[in-house]
Amino acid sequence: MAPQTALEIRPLAVPDLAPVYAWIEGNPLFARYGMSRTTLAAGLERAVADPEALVVGAFAPEGKLTGFAWFVKRGAFARSGYLRLIVVDPAAESSGTGRALMQHLEAKHLKPNGIFLLTTDSNVEAQSFYSRLGYRKVGEIPDYVHAGLTEWIYHKAPART
Ligand SMILES: CC(C)(COP(=O)(O)OP(=O)(O)OC[C@H]1O[C@@H](n2cnc3c(N)ncnc32)[C@H](O)[C@@H]1OP(=O)(O)O)[C@@H](O)C(=O)NCCC(=O)NCCS
Repeated sequence: MAPQTALEIRPLAVPDLAPVYAWIEGNPLFARYGMSRTTLAAGLERAVADPEALVVGAFAPEGKLTGFAWFVKRGAFARSGYLRLIVVDPAAESSGTGRALMQHLEAKHLKPNGIFLLTTDSNVEAQSFYSRLGYRKVGEIPDYVHAGLTEWIYHKAPART
C-alpha cells in the first residue's frame, strides 16, 4: 500500500498519549505481556522527554492521532536504533500509518548501524509488516520479555557502500 503522504509525523507530548494507552489496552497481544497504562506510563512519559529516545505520532490532516512509535536511538548494543513499540489505531490499520512512522524513523536513524526490533513469534501480522519494510529475522529469544513468550529479533541494515 502506498504511504499516506498526508500524514504528519511529529513528536508526541504527554497529553497526546491517552489514545495510545486505549489502543494498547484493547489489544490481547499486549495484555499477554501485562502491558497497560499503569505499567507503561512512567517509562513512556520519561521517553517523551529523553533526547536519546523518540516518541512520535502520525496525525491525519484533521489532527487525529492514527499511530505512534517509541524508538531509542542507540538502544540496541549501544550501537543501533531500537524500535521499542509501534501501535496503530485499530480503526486506521492497513492504510499506511505504520509505514509512514517507520519511514520517518529510518530517514534519520537507519544509518549507520541499522534498526533492531522484537516481535512475538505468534504476531504474524507484525512479521508481515516488518518484512514488507525490509526487516529480516536474525534470531529468537524465548522467555526474554515475558515468561512463555518467544521474541523474534528483526534487523534492517542500511545499504553498505
Ligand atoms: C503492525 C502495525 C504496526 C502495521 O501498521 P499498519 O499501519 O497497519 O501498516 P501499513 O498499512 O503501513 O502497512 C505497511 C505494509 O505492511 C503490510 N502489512 C501491514 N499489516 C499487515 C498484515 N496484518 N498482514 C500482512 N501484511 C501487512 C501492508 O500490506 C503494507 O505492505 P505494502 O505497502 O507493501 O502493501 C499495526 O497493524 C499494529 O499496530 N498492529 C497491532 C500492534 C502490533 O502488533 N505492533 C507491533 C508490535 S511488535
